[in-house]
Amino acid sequence: MNPLRLCKILYSELTAKTSQERIPETDLVMTDVEAVEAFASAGNGTGIMAPYYQFALERIARALPAHGTVIDLGCGSGALLIPLAELFPRLQFIGIDLSENMLNLAKAESTKRQLKNVTFLRENFSRLSPIADNSIDFVYCSMAIHHLPTVTTLDETCQEVGRVLASQGGFFLVDFGRLKSDQAIRLFIDDAPDGTPQVLLRDYDASMRAAFSLDEWRKALQPLRGRNPKLMTTFGAPFIVGALCPHPTSQTLVLRALHANRSRLSRRYFFDYLALRFLFKTCR
Ligand SMILES: C[S@@+](CC[C@H](N)C(=O)[O-])C[C@H]1O[C@@H](n2cnc3c(N)ncnc32)[C@H](O)[C@@H]1O
Repeated sequence: MNPLRLCKILYSELTAKTSQERIPETDLVMTDVEAVEAFASAGNGTGIMAPYYQFALERIARALPAHGTVIDLGCGSGALLIPLAELFPRLQFIGIDLSENMLNLAKAESTKRQLKNVTFLRENFSRLSPIADNSIDFVYCSMAIHHLPTVTTLDETCQEVGRVLASQGGFFLVDFGRLKSDQAIRLFIDDAPDGTPQVLLRDYDASMRAAFSLDEWRKALQPLRGRNPKLMTTFGAPFIVGALCPHPTSQTLVLRALHANRSRLSRRYFFDYLALRFLFKTCR
């Protein structure tokens, strides 16, 4: 991110007088082949999502339990699920998604890497009926919550997370947060590197407009309050919002393999990664 643009975004958010209405995604489940392929390639080392994935991988890796079962809600093409399953062979992972196209990409990668600790379910993550109560040790969800159609389904998702988690279970839910100013959204889109596919820019714009507000997150997290989650957001502009509850057996050390990945980021993306790390803070 261009630092001047980041300052402009912060200024337009801090001075915005009104909030924007939420516009739900039209492609609630990602079925469009072009969008699925563009999204999957955005996560590779040189793609626009690379700094975010590096940041999310480190956050999740530090919060995971030492043993047990982990669910990835809306796992998509497996950008987080596959590397995590490879890094943590003693954990069992379940990737849940409603999009067959996305699941096929994730399954193909899992087969290619010969992972034995991943299974997949084609299910709606706001109704986790095949998953028994108190049976899961950790749940994470990355960049999928804004696909939910309504605030009610966001509330239901948090209730389901609370239901399936074991008493000591931890979680990390992270997504875009709804910005107040239209100008801030446009500045984010303008910051995308030259050559970013149009389909990805449209998806990016729609995702930010479909994001839930910090207040909607705060309310939805009520059923998980007893687990003392930290509500987190990027300072000044709630571009990224999350709720984090590390598992009590989590290892605070970030694996060396993840550190090594950082050096593969281009200079520009390394700055974005650092900005995410330093701006993403606990809020009230
Ligand atoms: C933007 S992608 C994010 C994928 C992945 N979590 C990541 O961070 O790369 C969102 C994914 O959530 C899935 N999804 C959206 N709503 C869902 C729902 N209600 N139940 C299951 N999957 C859903 C979509 O099909 C899509 O694969």
